[in-house]
Amino acid sequence: MLAPPATFFPADLTGVPVVVTGDADGDLNALVNVCRHRGAVVCEAPGERSTLQCPYHAWTYDLAGNLINAPRSDREPNFDPGSHALTPLPIGTWGPFIFVAATSSVPPLAETLAELPDLVARAGIDVEALQFWDRSESQLEANWKVVVENFLECYHCRVAHPGFNKVVATGADDYGLATARTFSTQYGPVRDDWSGRFDPRGPVERSQFHRLFPNVAINILPGFANLSIGPISPRGPGRTHRFLDYFFGSDVTDEWIKDMVEFDNQVGSEDVALVESVQRGMEAGTHDGGTLFLDSEELIAHFQAWVGERLS
Ligand code: FES
Ligand SMILES: [Fe+2]
Repeated sequence: MLAPPATFFPADLTGVPVVVTGDADGDLNALVNVCRHRGAVVCEAPGERSTLQCPYHAWTYDLAGNLINAPRSDREPNFDPGSHALTPLPIGTWGPFIFVAATSSVPPLAETLAELPDLVARAGIDVEALQFWDRSESQLEANWKVVVENFLECYHCRVAHPGFNKVVATGADDYGLATARTFSTQYGPVRDDWSGRFDPRGPVERSQFHRLFPNVAINILPGFANLSIGPISPRGPGRTHRFLDYFFGSDVTDEWIKDMVEFDNQVGSEDVALVESVQRGMEAGTHDGGTLFLDSEELIAHFQAWVGERLS
C-alpha cells in the first residue's frame, strides 16, 4: 500500500529488495532497490521526498528510477547516467493492493488474477472501499512448500483448529475446494450451530481462502467486510516468512475487528505448530513422500503439479 503522503516505500520480494514509488505524474513504479553503482540497498525506509539517494556514495535517482546525480561523474568522460537507472519491475494494482513481479517476463496482473476479483466481489467485499488496519508478520521454522500445503487443506481443521471448527463447517461434504489456472480456493460455510466468542453473522456469508500462484494468500472470514492478504515467502530451506495485511470495511466496529483478529491469530498459531512439526518430521530423512487424500487434499495436488511444471 502507498498511503499518502508517502512517496516511496521499500519491500522485500523474496530476497529481491524493491522500492515502490509514486512519482509526480501519479504513476506507480516498482524498482529494484539496488544501487547501480556498487550494489548497496538504496532505500531502507518509507519517505516523502522526490528523490532516492543511496547512502553509500550519494548517487541520486528520481522516483521513476532515472539517475539524476552521481558525485564526481563530471570527472568520468565515458560515464553515461542514462544507462544507470534503477531496474524497473512489472507492477499492477487491484483495489488498494499493489503487486510487483520479480522478473519482467510475467503476464499482466489482470490475466494472473483472472476470476479472483469476481469471487471476492461476490463474497460481498468491495476492495476499493477497504481500509488498511494492521500488518501481522511471522517467521516459521518450516520449508515454504510445507507452509503452502498446510494452507491448502482443511482436512486438519477438525483436529487441529477446534475454535475454527466450532464456527466454520469443515466436514468433507460442507467445505468447498476449487482450482483455477492461477489460483485455488477454499469455501468454508458458517455452521448452523456455530459457537464461540467470534460472531460470524453478517453480510459475508462464508469464508473464502485463496492462494494466488506463486505465493499470495488471501483470506476472507464470514461476518462483516474483511480481507487479509500477504505473501508466503521462502527464506531458506527450513524457514518461511509471512505477513498478512488486514483490511476492513469502514463501518466495521473495533469490537468485531478485535474478535475476528483474535480468532484468526488462534488459527495462525495452531498452524505454526503444525508446519514446524512437519518440518521436524521431514528433517528426520525417513519420510517417503507420503499420501494425499484427493477428496480433501486436492488443492495440494494442484499446487504440486504447478511446482512440478515450473521445475521441469
Ligand atoms: S553503491 Fe550506491 S552510491 Fe555507491
Ligand atoms: Fe490450519
